Amino acid sequence: MNFDVENIRKDFPILSKKINNKPLIYFDNAATSQTPTSVINSISNYYNNYNANIHRGVHSLSEEATQDFESARTKIKEHFNAGDTKEIIFTSGTTHSINIVANGYTDILKSGDEIIVSGLEHHSNIVPWQMMTKKNNAKLKVIPLKENGELDLKVFENLISDKTKLVFINHVSNALGVINPIKKIIEIAHKNGAVVLVDGAQSSAHFDIDLQKLDVDFFTASAHKLCGPTGIGFLYGKKELLDLIPPYMGGGEMISEVTFEKTTYADLPHKFEAGTPNISGAIAFGYALDYLNNIGLDNIKKYEDYLLDYATNKLKQIDGMIIYGDTPNKTSVISFNIDGLHAYDIGSILDKFGIAVRTGQHCAQPIMDYFKISGTVRASFSFINTIEEIDELIKAITFAKQMLS
Ligand code: ALA
Repeated sequence: MNFDVENIRKDFPILSKKINNKPLIYFDNAATSQTPTSVINSISNYYNNYNANIHRGVHSLSEEATQDFESARTKIKEHFNAGDTKEIIFTSGTTHSINIVANGYTDILKSGDEIIVSGLEHHSNIVPWQMMTKKNNAKLKVIPLKENGELDLKVFENLISDKTKLVFINHVSNALGVINPIKKIIEIAHKNGAVVLVDGAQSSAHFDIDLQKLDVDFFTASAHKLCGPTGIGFLYGKKELLDLIPPYMGGGEMISEVTFEKTTYADLPHKFEAGTPNISGAIAFGYALDYLNNIGLDNIKKYEDYLLDYATNKLKQIDGMIIYGDTPNKTSVISFNIDGLHAYDIGSILDKFGIAVRTGQHCAQPIMDYFKISGTVRASFSFINTIEEIDELIKAITFAKQMLS
């Protein structure tokens, strides 16, 4: 495989760290990605050289900070091919973005309206909708899973009707790595007059996404899954929909005029950006996209698919191995259990070998309930990982199995 992983790894200072006297092997990329030097440096450069509030001052520092903040917005617009920078709202991340939309539709939806969510969702794409339906009595329907972890689209086609106003779906399941057929789901939803929100937290680091081609209505992602910092992400929405929904938070920056009788809101995107934002985070997000684009999402995808195939084949050779969501349509996540062993125990032993995986429900309890399990071990790979690290994982799992059996 022609991918210069050894050189790429030099960009990530954390990879030289030892954990329990072993070199760190980081297989928790779905929880948060690691950060390259260029992104880390962009944050210290901001605080060392042009820390200032944005959109507020005529002084040089403020203008420089504003320019870089807005240029990060342009980078996001271009990377995801949105139609206009006004459609890119900076948020603290995917959860914040989803809450903006759920809050925005609370008064628009009425009792008798229906919304559809998939059975593969993270809690952040379930709970905000439940909170919303408590207020407006809209009905929440769920697309069920199939045994291979994919969604049952036949059931979706039966669930949807002209009563359906909104459909919410993640692009890739954080718990299983299964890729949902969002293009098809968007087409079906639009034929029925429904608006679609796609949670791209787990897809955006793994392949190219073209928002205009997808014709998606709302889309969201978090920088920290894309080699950027935590606490920053974005909400994309089609202009006419962002104009339709009210702001989520009130405050400075999001207004046009304020009197004690009445406030008018600022134009997009500022209407949804109350308060001082995470300025250095947004700028660093732009640098993270530059970093990924330099390697190329197509190259990243090919390499990660290669890692996924290799790891899946090796893991399947371990006796008692159960892989959830074992379908060809997936990104580089393997969620598994070993018959008779507890996920947490396996995770703790892997940590002794310096291997970081996530264990438990992965903020997706309905998926665990579907498989009638309390949790899984989740190894999530990225382009910074190597075949040798996967071999170490297999050795460590084999050891854990012998120890725990
Ligand atoms: N949503 C993140 C994960 O899947 C935290 O681990």
